[in-house]
Amino acid sequence: MDFKIAVLAGDGIGPEISAVGVDVMTAVCEKFGHKVSYEYAVCGADAIDKVGDPFPEATYQACKNADAVLFSAVGDPKFDNDPTAKVRPEQGLLAMRKKLGLFANIRPVQTFKCLLHKSPLRAELVDGADFLCIRELTGGMYFGEKYQDNDKAYDTNMYTRPEIERILKVGFEYAMKRNKHLTVVDKANVLASSRLWRQIAREMAPDYPEVTTDYMYVDNAAMRMIQEPKFFDVMVTENTFGDILTDEGSCISGSMGLLPSASTGESTPVFEPIHGSWPQAKGLNIANPLAQILSVAMLFEYFGLKEEGALVREAVDASLDANVRTPEIQAEGGAKYGTKEVGAWIVDYIKHQSLLRKERDKRFFSTFARRCIKSMITDSIFDVSPCFITNDDYGKNSKELDGTHRRHSVDEVGRIQPEVRAATGYSCQTGVFQSGGQCERPRGAGND
Ligand code: IPM
Ligand code: MG
Repeated sequence: MDFKIAVLAGDGIGPEISAVGVDVMTAVCEKFGHKVSYEYAVCGADAIDKVGDPFPEATYQACKNADAVLFSAVGDPKFDNDPTAKVRPEQGLLAMRKKLGLFANIRPVQTFKCLLHKSPLRAELVDGADFLCIRELTGGMYFGEKYQDNDKAYDTNMYTRPEIERILKVGFEYAMKRNKHLTVVDKANVLASSRLWRQIAREMAPDYPEVTTDYMYVDNAAMRMIQEPKFFDVMVTENTFGDILTDEGSCISGSMGLLPSASTGESTPVFEPIHGSWPQAKGLNIANPLAQILSVAMLFEYFGLKEEGALVREAVDASLDANVRTPEIQAEGGAKYGTKEVGAWIVDYIKHQSLLRKERDKRFFSTFARRCIKSMITDSIFDVSPCFITNDDYGKNSKELDGTHRRHSVDEVGRIQPEVRAATGYSCQTGVFQSGGQCERPRGAGND
């Protein structure tokens, strides 16, 4: 594929994590033979300082002309602390969402096993939590009519039927692709806009008979997310509620610096970390680049490039496993890695350490054939028996499934086989591979 990417680094830690995101994108494209070119454009406080507009026309054009936008963060305390400021960096982000018609914001909440202890919630509550928040992004209070004088102020929370229908459709469709459980989050006991959401959701639900749809007030949802995060599969909600709940969701995994997002709709999709610009950390090389890197994974997946996305995710997992982490998730006593160093490690992993599927296939089959031939020659009998792959290339899968590298009984193999197949794409029937690539011929059934 030939990618044209608009890069909007923005403010605070934005430029630092953006640089890492670009390096990762480039490394994956090189590995898979995709062409990629970048157009850099200003936004947020940086753009206000430079051209007086947080989302200038030139930036809009760069986004419009790109296949995807790699966005980082906007925001600067000098505006936060000035209530009289007429233009604000955040307006740039809102303008981008509106102008590009990005009505669906997909924010996955996922956990990483090795970081469970970093979560403010107990590990057993968090372990395995994995849900998507679909946030409506171009309507509601953020864009409704506003008024402010010294004595009175209001924001209008308006939603129209088409706006609600199209975002609910996204919710139902994601639920269909996942565990078929959709939670519609609203405040229908108080808000008219929420009552319309709920009514429309009820009208649409019969079109998705396989999806279990439930309805939850936002205050209850906020509570349920920390009491039982595993309850959720896909939740769909309006702009303001989604903004608040996704910050809450991001804590579940232990660091805000871990969660990416995708905003999609009528024009160019935007991929960005869900965290903000963290101005206090600007230039300190301590910001976690993983959320930005995982946004690159989402970008590839959006274009149907699953293997590219999987490679990025594999590299992120590998960096965490290798303890190559920024300070806020650093294992106690571990070496200190900065934003750049984590990024460089991941790029190096992508370039040199990870094997693409076809390379793994080639290596697997040549090793397999060599071992089998050797076995046939030395033992002059070729014993065909069930086995369990614990070859190095698949060590990760075998460890996940079993935790050890040992031989397995026929029964065990039978039980594990479907999982091995799901994890590796292989069914295993012959020989026993052990860690280190050494092949042992099973000595008959029950060879444990
Ligand atoms: C987010 C941010 C933005 C929002 C701000 C920066 C305008 O909090 O993307 O969640 O509220 O949407
Ligand atoms: Mg937010």
